[in-house]
Amino acid sequence: MTDTTTASPAPKSVKDHAQDLGKEHSIWFKLTPFMKGDDPMGTVNRLLKKMNGVVPIKMRDEKIFMLGKVEHFDRIFVKKVDQYEKFFSGLEPIFGKSMITVDGVLWQNVRTPQQKSFHPKVYAEYIPYLQDALDKKEELWAQRAKSGEPFEMVEETWTLACDMISKALFNREFPINAHAVYSAVKAYTSVSNHNELRVKKVHDGLEEVTSDEAAAGAIEAWHTVPDAIMNSKPWDDREKYLLQLFQDLEADPENPTYDHEQAVDEMKQYLWAGTETTALTMAWCIYNLTQHPEALAKLRAETEEILGDRTEPTWDDLLKMTYTRSVIQETMRMYPPAWGLIREATEEDEIDGHKIMPGDKVVACCYAVHHNEDYWSDPSEFRPERFAKERMKKRVKYSYMPFGAGKRACIGGQLAMIENTMALTQLMRRFEPEYVGPSPVPFNITVTLTPKGGLHFKLHERDVA
Ligand code: HEM
Repeated sequence: MTDTTTASPAPKSVKDHAQDLGKEHSIWFKLTPFMKGDDPMGTVNRLLKKMNGVVPIKMRDEKIFMLGKVEHFDRIFVKKVDQYEKFFSGLEPIFGKSMITVDGVLWQNVRTPQQKSFHPKVYAEYIPYLQDALDKKEELWAQRAKSGEPFEMVEETWTLACDMISKALFNREFPINAHAVYSAVKAYTSVSNHNELRVKKVHDGLEEVTSDEAAAGAIEAWHTVPDAIMNSKPWDDREKYLLQLFQDLEADPENPTYDHEQAVDEMKQYLWAGTETTALTMAWCIYNLTQHPEALAKLRAETEEILGDRTEPTWDDLLKMTYTRSVIQETMRMYPPAWGLIREATEEDEIDGHKIMPGDKVVACCYAVHHNEDYWSDPSEFRPERFAKERMKKRVKYSYMPFGAGKRACIGGQLAMIENTMALTQLMRRFEPEYVGPSPVPFNITVTLTPKGGLHFKLHERDVA
């Protein structure tokens, strides 16, 4: 394993795009009228229902279409996938030109070699690495329980997911304080922050300077993470893992796609796309379980039946944990971390009588199909039983989209399920979380669907003797 001190060049000017996400040209900024209040998705859903599944938003220079029917998803992600390109306005500092952002031949060249790191056989090998991260978190939780102090759960699950990814995919202990990285990413991805910063720019010159620096500083900090990981010592003597693959590809003159910058961008992508989404799912699952003690009891009974006294599951154990999986699936139905997937049309099209022109943006609203009564009865109710095997066969195609669809669907969806299953079974076995925040939980929709102000809990050790 090479341990050379490489440093990737910083983006030309971090300050230049420090606030891209909140600028007028950013689609995230354009969507902010929908993001106000405590239930922005409720507003989007009501509009979609009233307007028969398509909400056209006319801007001065472009059109955005919010889409909420299963047929739309089939069209954009499968049937006409090549005429709807990825659109990542404002997110370049987070993702660079990684797989998730690019299209066509470049996307194929970037994704193909990585595919083998996301195969069930390899997932089984990841289990001890995920377990180590989880054991450490369990010890921290024991201290939290002892102190009795409330804490914010998304940050807690984010740091766990980050450690899991770092060990399983990169074979490294995460070398930086993960809480600091979390704060840096949040400082950038919270569009509402950016808007506030931007407004201050107009009304209050002094504060604006500080804010700009804070956003640029956040991005600068984020940019240093992949190199810090690469330059730290391998965790064990494993020969094959994703980071090693990047380094081998980078050293291969026959493969110009993978230069150092590409490897850095791929790592940033995993640390964000693989961490934020998994962490949100885990935190919402814990919230749902505290609100539904009968589901928590069933999950614990399943853990006891399958694991007995053991902590580390085998691959076969994980396959048997069907109720725990249903809890995770139902939680992602209610709170899909990727609430809306954005594409840019490259050719003319027509959707339900609406003319789509090249350059127009479409937002496939996963939250809307997940909460549509035509596809789900009582959609606001938490019912893990919906995901029992026999009922899943009857589900309407594309009515469940937490991992997207078609060839651009999530590469790490199954890994996320494993991480969540391991975390929930182990942590719920030892601890009794107590939710101490507001109910219903207010939402924020930015790039992901997040609980406004976070999810606050206290922890208690269970008496399981
Ligand atoms: C609960 C957890 C997760 C959720 C809800 C989720 C959701 C998604 C969605 C919806 C997409 C498609 C985006 C689009 O079509 O625009 C996607 C793509 C992607 N996800 Fe995930 N994801 C999760 C976990 C992970 C994990 C654990 C990894 C890797 C460690 C990962 C890596 C990726 C990558 C690389 C892509 C881009 C695939 C491509 O464009 O070919 N995700 N994810």
